[in-house]
Amino acid sequence: MTASFPEGFLWGTATAAHQVEGGNVNNDHWELEHAEHSPFVEPSGDACDSYHRWAEDLDLVAGAGLDTYRFSLEWSRIEPEEGEFSRAALDHYRRIVDGCRARGLNPLVTLVHFTMPRWLMHDGGWTGPKAGDRLARFAEFAAPALTDAEYVATINEPNLMAAQPVLGRMARSGQPIHGLPRPDQGVAEALLGLHDRAREVFRGAGLRTGMTLIGRENIAEEGGEERMREERAAFEDQFQEAAAGDDWLGLQIYTCARFGPDGLVPPAPELQTLAHGMERRPQALGAAVRRASEVLPDVPLLVTENGIATADDADRIAFTDEALRSLSAAIADGADVRGYVHWSLLDNFEWMLGYRPTFGLVSVDREAFARTPEPSLAWLGEVARRNGIS
Ligand code: FCB
Repeated sequence: MTASFPEGFLWGTATAAHQVEGGNVNNDHWELEHAEHSPFVEPSGDACDSYHRWAEDLDLVAGAGLDTYRFSLEWSRIEPEEGEFSRAALDHYRRIVDGCRARGLNPLVTLVHFTMPRWLMHDGGWTGPKAGDRLARFAEFAAPALTDAEYVATINEPNLMAAQPVLGRMARSGQPIHGLPRPDQGVAEALLGLHDRAREVFRGAGLRTGMTLIGRENIAEEGGEERMREERAAFEDQFQEAAAGDDWLGLQIYTCARFGPDGLVPPAPELQTLAHGMERRPQALGAAVRRASEVLPDVPLLVTENGIATADDADRIAFTDEALRSLSAAIADGADVRGYVHWSLLDNFEWMLGYRPTFGLVSVDREAFARTPEPSLAWLGEVARRNGIS
């Protein structure tokens, strides 16, 4: 069966600054990676050296036949000390935006992808009283470099960020973790407030602004219907509803969540699980997109991440093929989706799990930084050229 996509549909792949650049010594993650009893299995180090090799990265994306590249700014490079802005660092990102356009790629730029400068972490972080003014000031400094971006995102996955402190508390108390828990409501509200501040600045600069949210297919098991609805409201609905005034919404879908009467339940052992204990569930993409388009019928959606960590590239293709078919069906049924961006271009620093999970369409040699495209890169490029799967 063939699966097709609307005319003008964007096809791309994504990275995030801290996961690929290397040497981000001034951010909170670098500090946490090196802390005593760090939960990170290894430090990010040189990552993929994309801070220097970004042109090669863009060549790979464009060469494969894709037309969109998602990347993020690293705040700690642009404002290494509070109020001290680096024009040189911002110019670096301006060159990436220009480099995308020169290669026929639509730049999709994220302002904050999880990391913050160390000075911010030590003075209130995301929930401190000055966070809004500080983020707005950073957005104002950055906006002129983003004029040619196709889309800009303020914050990556505020719903996952707000669940992090809860996960931390569960881990410390030895509670079993079966997926992403209900976010801390105070953190959720703080982050949505930050999104509003950055959005105001970007809108003022004429940029097409949204945020990106982690989403999932929510499945109620026997007796779990009510709990599923409650968790979905806290983890997804309130964030999606907050995007009602945005120009677009990014959805990042990897898996499903199963609920019983007491909350999240682990997938049955026969269901293959992936990095982060995720269930292998490619069709979650279509299901999550359908749900978002019901919550937010008037806001255009973009899939800004979807992918699988696997050492078996043929399985990456099989997974993505099935995910895309479910997406195509959701679009045929009315979801307004403008593009698909695969996570990730490169095997990269998968946060606490370090370099072990491999999400890349391109593998990266950890010592020479040589990039080796996997067959999945050419496969996705072919899907892009045909704007469909046959
Ligand atoms: C998402 C993150 C992204 C990457 C993928 C696997 O939650 O936005 O940086 O780590 O998961």
